[in-house]
Amino acid sequence: MSNHDNSPIFPDSYVGENSTEYDNSIWMERNQKKTAILCLHYLYDEKLDRIGILDTLNEEKYLVADLGCGTGFSSEILVEKGYRVIAVDVLIDMLSKAKSKKKLLEKEKNLELILADINYLPLKQSSIDHIISISAYNFIIYGKIVLGDISKTVNNTARYLEKILKPNGRVIIEFYPKNKKELDIFTSSFDESGFDGFVVKKDSNQKSGQTFLLLKKRAKL
Ligand SMILES: C[S@@+](CC[C@H](N)C(=O)[O-])C[C@H]1O[C@@H](n2cnc3c(N)ncnc32)[C@H](O)[C@@H]1O
Repeated sequence: MSNHDNSPIFPDSYVGENSTEYDNSIWMERNQKKTAILCLHYLYDEKLDRIGILDTLNEEKYLVADLGCGTGFSSEILVEKGYRVIAVDVLIDMLSKAKSKKKLLEKEKNLELILADINYLPLKQSSIDHIISISAYNFIIYGKIVLGDISKTVNNTARYLEKILKPNGRVIIEFYPKNKKELDIFTSSFDESGFDGFVVKKDSNQKSGQTFLLLKKRAKL
């Protein structure tokens, strides 16, 4: 199920038969895995190294939280690339399919699946090296209509992401804000919550559609 512009609808697009259709789609698998690889590339972005205090990531196989992991396409790539992954999704129909994939992984132990809401993550402070979220973050404002409620949600969540990250932690988000105003609400939530970073779009004039946020936790002096 999708909107007239073909964008998915939460939660309808991800429950019951639609979750099975999502998981069985070869196009979806290829697309999400390609995006996961691109997000990993952005994690080591040199421009991100230079923002705020200069730092570079080493080759360490970090603990990465995959927020809105769905049926596990993105998490599978992260584990195959050698990362330890905590994958979170709020819908059991999607997460149960990720559980089936986990059993087939050579490094099964490197993937932990958690049924939880991104807005209420059951993760300890300073416990995560980096965060990746693919095609999910725009849904954190699901059900919020009033601007004040939207801002409160995105601000609280950004603040919490800052808390669960270790120093120098990075966040790479691929998502689909509806328009410039919505994008600004998300970017300012990170700016005000202790992150530095920037936005990447395929076309710099593009106001909505696929958007990447490349962020790193601001160093405390
Ligand atoms: C398009 S799927 C993304 C799947 C996955 N990242 C991938 O690359 O294959 C979007 C997922 O975001 C999840 N989601 C939406 N809102 C969420 C929230 N507030 N907390 C956790 N997961 C959420 C949905 O349940 C759905 O499984």
